[in-house]
Amino acid sequence: MKILFVVIFILSSLIIGANSFLVQDEENIGKILFDKTCSSCHTGGFKGWMTGAPKMGDWDDWEVFFEQGLPVMTKHINEGTKRHEIKGGCTDCTEKQIKAAIEYIMSKTKKEIKK
Ligand code: HEC
Repeated sequence: MKILFVVIFILSSLIIGANSFLVQDEENIGKILFDKTCSSCHTGGFKGWMTGAPKMGDWDDWEVFFEQGLPVMTKHINEGTKRHEIKGGCTDCTEKQIKAAIEYIMSKTKKEIKK
């Protein structure tokens, strides 16, 4: 009987361990995708300047886009617009991953509250 408890204990801690790994992964999806795909245009630099892409962290660049709201921006990037490649070029990315990348941009671009 005792051995059964030990086995259950080990199994459940494995499951909990795997779970927290997944949760952490979920939070990082946006950052990983951003760094891999979106950063080439959205962190300024030469390509950012060439394309005129709004720069992450720059509220003034993003304000007009953020005003549309997350669902509209997500739709634009997933389906592409005249000025934006579908999924920023990451065609095998899921819509959820794209949304996570936009949320990541938003989390890093907050309006400074002027005192
Ligand atoms: C080839 C350069 C390039 C890449 C790569 C790129 N973007 Fe963009 N992005 C742009 C440009 C240029 C604009 C401004 C578009 C406009 O003026 O309509 C823009 C605008 C946006 C907007 C606002 C657009 C709207 O109409 O709502 C979002 C959100 C966005 N990008 C997210 C992303 C995400 C997420 C990725 C990575 C998956 C990405 N971009 C990759 C160039 C790029």
